Amino acid sequence: MRMVAAVMYEQGLPAPYADSCPLKIEEVEIDGPREGEVLIEVRAAGLCHSDLSQIAGLRKRTVPVVMGHEGAGIVREVGRGVSEFKPGDHVAMTVGSGCGYCRSCVDARPVLCEVVGASRSRGLLMNGRRALTGHGRELYHHSGVSSFAQYAITVPGTLIKIDASIPFEIAAMFGCAVVTGAGSVFNAAKVRPGQSVAVFGLGGVGLNSVMAARISGASVIIGIDINENKFPLAVELGCTHTLSAFDAKLVETVRELTNGGVDFAFEISGSRAAMISAIEVTRKGGEIVCVGMGASGDLYQYPHTALVAEEKVLRGSLMGSCVPNRDLPLYFRYYTEGRLPVDRLKSGTMHFDELNRNLDMLERGEVLRQVLLPHG
Ligand SMILES: NC(=O)c1ccc[n+]([C@@H]2O[C@H](COP(=O)([O-])OP(=O)(O)OC[C@H]3O[C@@H](n4cnc5c(N)ncnc54)[C@H](O)[C@@H]3O)[C@@H](O)[C@H]2O)c1
Ligand SMILES: [Zn+2]
Ligand SMILES: [Zn+2]
Repeated sequence: MRMVAAVMYEQGLPAPYADSCPLKIEEVEIDGPREGEVLIEVRAAGLCHSDLSQIAGLRKRTVPVVMGHEGAGIVREVGRGVSEFKPGDHVAMTVGSGCGYCRSCVDARPVLCEVVGASRSRGLLMNGRRALTGHGRELYHHSGVSSFAQYAITVPGTLIKIDASIPFEIAAMFGCAVVTGAGSVFNAAKVRPGQSVAVFGLGGVGLNSVMAARISGASVIIGIDINENKFPLAVELGCTHTLSAFDAKLVETVRELTNGGVDFAFEISGSRAAMISAIEVTRKGGEIVCVGMGASGDLYQYPHTALVAEEKVLRGSLMGSCVPNRDLPLYFRYYTEGRLPVDRLKSGTMHFDELNRNLDMLERGEVLRQVLLPHG
């Protein structure tokens, strides 16, 4: 079947992206679902800062690749052996599922699954196949999702069934922004009522951490960003305080507000400067949860003796350390109960021809989550 998709042929094209057009909008061929696969009509797909980092070439990708790693849509066809889904089901697409059998998977840490991780980094579907072709050449998949397209072939592990009453434009944000931000609080940090947190980076992911910290009962939630335009919504979603990352007294102020430092600092901006501040604002015995990602190979520096003497923990968290089938239905329930108002994160919708311009808007910090509507 022929369809329209956004293909990246080359990483590292310069900004402004409205001029360099790293995403080519073109017709590509998608193969029908084979055994164990599902064909999705993609109705909405969110634009994440990780898309921007890969377009900028900070982390290598196999190219040419159909981009997009969060989305929502309707199951249109299932291959032989698929019993979990049927045509007409509404689904959200996510990245974090595993093979179900390896050591990490049986340990409830599917984001660390080596089998799926290997397919993901090679640009293949989880079953090792590619189902996309452009100009007679096979294209790679992005994280087994490739949602910047009118249709996607995927495997059941990347899909979560959702209630048909949930708008696709909202459901699309759950597969990365929500699962990553909320999971960093619930799964990685395990914040308890009364504890204090600082969130560096109040973007699509960081604001989900703010909302999750509020659900967890955190008593102090400090939002920190370089862009003060992000503060009003952050306060609405749960921040008890907001501070500029440029504030010379940032560390001092956080320590004063929290009687010596926060229990948990979440670094969700991908900035080295933020990571240094995150370590400094954390109390003795506290944890720094590292979610933001810069370029692969980036080196960070921290005072090692202080880390030892103050028993601080640096903890990485990928995709909110999620178990998709356990966590996403819960987050959707929080959304329908009004406790996780993910709809507040949608800045607007766009069509294919606006994707490159939206990369510039995200880079300039003008938007939170922009949602692509592949069918107009
Ligand atoms: N760990 C994971 O699994 C995972 C998943 C998704 C995204 N990410 C990463 O998380 C980060 C955030 O993604 P997003 O989509 O929310 O991005 P975003 O662009 O929506 O938000 C980033 C925010 O960080 C702020 N910021 C920049 N520099 C800062 C600094 N020095 N101090 C404080 N704030 C600063 C920006 O103003 C912006 O508000 C990115 O690095 C992305 O690659 C990681
Ligand atoms: Zn993402
Ligand atoms: Zn596995």
